[in-house]
Amino acid sequence: MLKPQLRPARPHFSSGPCAKPPGWSPDQLDTRVLGRSHRSGLGKERLQHCIDLMRENLQLPATHRIGIVPASDTGAFEMAMWSMLGARPVTCLAWESFGEGWVTDAVKQLRLDPTVIRSDYGELPDLGQVDWSSDVLFTWNGTTSGVRVPNGAWIAADREGLSFADATSAVFAYDLPWDRIDVATFSWQKVLGGEGGHGVLILGPRAVERLESFTPDRPLPKIFRMTKGGKLNEGIFAGETINTPSMLAVEDAIWTLEWARSIGGLNGLMARTDANAAALDRIVDARDWLGHLAQAPETRSKTSVCLTVAGADPKRMARLLEEEGVAFDIASYRDAPPGLRIWCGATVETTDIEALGPWLDWAWEQCR
Ligand SMILES: Cc1ncc(COP(=O)(O)O)c(C=O)c1O
Repeated sequence: MLKPQLRPARPHFSSGPCAKPPGWSPDQLDTRVLGRSHRSGLGKERLQHCIDLMRENLQLPATHRIGIVPASDTGAFEMAMWSMLGARPVTCLAWESFGEGWVTDAVKQLRLDPTVIRSDYGELPDLGQVDWSSDVLFTWNGTTSGVRVPNGAWIAADREGLSFADATSAVFAYDLPWDRIDVATFSWQKVLGGEGGHGVLILGPRAVERLESFTPDRPLPKIFRMTKGGKLNEGIFAGETINTPSMLAVEDAIWTLEWARSIGGLNGLMARTDANAAALDRIVDARDWLGHLAQAPETRSKTSVCLTVAGADPKRMARLLEEEGVAFDIASYRDAPPGLRIWCGATVETTDIEALGPWLDWAWEQCR
């Protein structure tokens, strides 16, 4: 089989850090704040601008606070766990490696004895089993299995516990029901194609109530501390970061958020993700050796799409495609079943997904 003539214009299909937005280049970033204090007037203004753009693009209701915190999505999720868990029983849902990581935190580090509801790669656990009198930890979009929760209807409106959503590969790709979410976290490195290093923490009013009424019986490092004298440190949600942020990463996020606004904000981003996932779906449907790891269509991720490959070693295929410069980083995650994982988030161009199809055929033929 001859090599296809058409190549994806950008071979960036990694599930994080993800492709930069179309048209991005480093010389377009506003660098006025670099080399200046993040606590200067300009520094605070840029951090606040970033927060405002996230709120606007996400259509985040005024009930929810949004702040920039250290250590990427992991930092944001762990600061919420460490600060808020222990007040009531805990339930952890896990269906892939990142959800499993939060189980390890809850069991081995926080020693909370949570109820754990699991399922295998490709499946979603029975969400109907969840007891909403407990605090519930879950991953909105399981990046390593390509399985997501279909919506928020399973989250009780009258829950007594808090819902904690690790939503890093979901935010900006799905229309999230904020009234059902007490804590959400993400990093710019996913759907925005931004940089790692910083996390974003979103808190609903019930999470703030928890922070102000409950003091966990455990040491909290400075970078996890969200209250001062029993009151929420509101500065964190107004651009006064706990410690020094990378203003270069912040400027990079601002550039992308302005691009996002120019294409219609959340709706524009979701439309691009939908089109990419649909294009990849057509590729999968047309090949009997390719399949979705996620069994039920309504649980299939539209961002981190995980595929099964029959008759050839997907790792070898991914290596060949990388060598050809047509697809970077598309082997499945190290803990997941062997397969391919192709990011379909908003920063990827649909024409590049379409151009990938014939190259998958070529690589499969080479590796059979
Ligand atoms: C669902 C999920 N949770 C957590 C993480 C960890 O994110 P970070 O490296 O930004 O802390 C990832 C990264 O891929 C992820 O996909």
